[in-house]
Amino acid sequence: MYEKLYEMNISYQIRIIQESDLDSLLLVKSDVSVHTDRFQQQKEGKAVYLGAFINHYAIGYVLLSLDNKEDVMPYTNHKRCADMIDLLIIEPLRNCGVGSRLALACEEFCKEKEIPYLGLDVNPTDNAAAKRLYERLGYYSVGEIHLDGVYEYIDEEGSKGKYEDWCIDMIKRIE
Ligand SMILES: CC(C)(COP(=O)(O)OP(=O)(O)OC[C@H]1O[C@@H](n2cnc3c(N)ncnc32)[C@H](O)[C@@H]1OP(=O)(O)O)[C@@H](O)C(=O)NCCC(=O)NCCS
Repeated sequence: MYEKLYEMNISYQIRIIQESDLDSLLLVKSDVSVHTDRFQQQKEGKAVYLGAFINHYAIGYVLLSLDNKEDVMPYTNHKRCADMIDLLIIEPLRNCGVGSRLALACEEFCKEKEIPYLGLDVNPTDNAAAKRLYERLGYYSVGEIHLDGVYEYIDEEGSKGKYEDWCIDMIKRIE
């Protein structure tokens, strides 16, 4: 009878993440070293750590690395290209537009810094939804599928396995 049972409008703020947000970030990803490394990069001016917050609770984040994304330079005419890394929104609040807003915040930051391209890596097979999101925002694939990382995991039966993350680069001209 109903096409949609409910719609969720959430009110949140996007801002630069501070070291004092660590406790809140650990509820999203519990690995302290991931966040402290990003704070260090931010301190050194190499990256900007952006978060989405409801009050002081983090609901998502993205690391905007200002170092050139070297592997895509042939496709940007060797113009500067920042790198959008580990965009993540907590599961219950996905599909509300927060991920797109964080990506757009990265673009705004690049525009302010006159960085003409923004790039990212995405696994097109296992993460088709994320790829669709980037395409909707105007990102396009360049280069070849490549092995971005190999991650160890333990499955439900306690057996160890390795996951190969095969990704494609996507870029967008944002000037
Ligand atoms: C990928 C990820 C970051 C997307 O975040 P998100 O907040 O769900 O993204 P958005 O809500 O902006 O967009 C997702 C979908 O919701 C839809 N949407 C956006 N705003 C909406 C709204 N207000 N109401 C209903 N739907 C909406 C979008 O159209 C999009 O639909 P599509 O999948 O058909 O394109 C999130 O799924 C995630 O954290 N995944 C795990 C980590 C990951 O894979 N990160 C990507 C690494 S490359």
